[in-house]
Amino acid sequence: MKILCVVGARPNFMKIAPIIDELKSRNIDYVLVHTGQHYDEKMSQFFFVDLGMPKPHVDLGVGSGSHAKQTGEVLMRIEPIMEQEQPDVVVVVGDVNSTLAATLAAAKLGIPVAHVEAGLRSFDRSMPEEINRLMTDSVADYLFTTEELAGEHLRREGIDDEKIFFVGNTMIDSLFKHVKRADESKILDQLGVAPKKYGVVTLHRPSNVDQPESLRGILEALSTIARDLPLVFPIHPRTRKRISEFGLDSLLEQGFILSEPLGYLDFLRLNKDARLVLTDSGGIQEETTVLGVPCITLRYNTERPITVTAGTNQLVGADKQQILAAALKVLSGEAEKKQIPPLWDGQAAKRIVDVLQQTL
Ligand code: UD1
Repeated sequence: MKILCVVGARPNFMKIAPIIDELKSRNIDYVLVHTGQHYDEKMSQFFFVDLGMPKPHVDLGVGSGSHAKQTGEVLMRIEPIMEQEQPDVVVVVGDVNSTLAATLAAAKLGIPVAHVEAGLRSFDRSMPEEINRLMTDSVADYLFTTEELAGEHLRREGIDDEKIFFVGNTMIDSLFKHVKRADESKILDQLGVAPKKYGVVTLHRPSNVDQPESLRGILEALSTIARDLPLVFPIHPRTRKRISEFGLDSLLEQGFILSEPLGYLDFLRLNKDARLVLTDSGGIQEETTVLGVPCITLRYNTERPITVTAGTNQLVGADKQQILAAALKVLSGEAEKKQIPPLWDGQAAKRIVDVLQQTL
């Protein structure tokens, strides 16, 4: 059996790492392809090191571009690799442009596709990731889900029950594997913060950062919170560009500790010891739920509802008053729900590889 695994952007790496570990430990032949969607050291290579991942066998080097260009470049460049490697299955993770492009290339070559993190739906088609999720799931042959509602979405979309496997969350496999090592990170000292005495911010969604009004509103709310609680803000390249383009740098002058994007272990340590996290990321909603850290999500919807129903997450959108009210509630210490969702137990990759081994 030969498995071709595809990654492209930062949130893909921690989802594929446990699967690669599992393939290696079972001596299963695999090829790891990096599309190069993310290419800065801090967005890509550092994660391979932190996660102990092998260097990709192939790097397609597609880089940035419009959605059509990025997706098209991956599609064109990955096809000959798939033809040459002749894998029995292509494994894709998450919902980035590389996920969709690799899926399309494989499906057209008649190679089975396994989608890890299938069935998540925000029901917001203005999000590029929602289009990627819908399209990927519609042609995938194995749909590995992280929460039960995802399976319901897929069944409602007419996907055969036999293709759907509720296996848990490989991103959480990575978290459990590395959380002890993260404790050795010196990032708190480096940034000059003490456990539970700071918040963490991440921001990169086009809907939040690409319009001056919404980015300004969010940064104003954050700067108010930062008066009481120092906010560590590792800035995504997209966001950094927008802040200077829109002339908003002055909003970050007080109360913020700004940094470049951080590596996996440093960021895990930072999250784990935070008083609260404010984010528009998908994966961080899940990580904070497992870590029991309050998460305020700067979005109006989430494709990961279990983080709200069982976990520590609350959705507030980009509204300044809502953001402030939510932060105040957390800081005044109201009780948190801290349930870890079913099957988020560090064993998801094992279940995935079991299914592939038993059926291929
Ligand atoms: C992508 C994913 C998003 C994911 C995010 C995590 C899609 C549609 N979006 O968004 O789901 O949450 O990654 O980071 O696939 N850039 C750099 N260096 C890099 C990569 C990007 O400077 O290594 C800059 C470029 O200017 C680029 C911009 O960031 O144009 C956006 O990168 P892109 O890959 O298009 O999307 P993300 O916003 O990172």
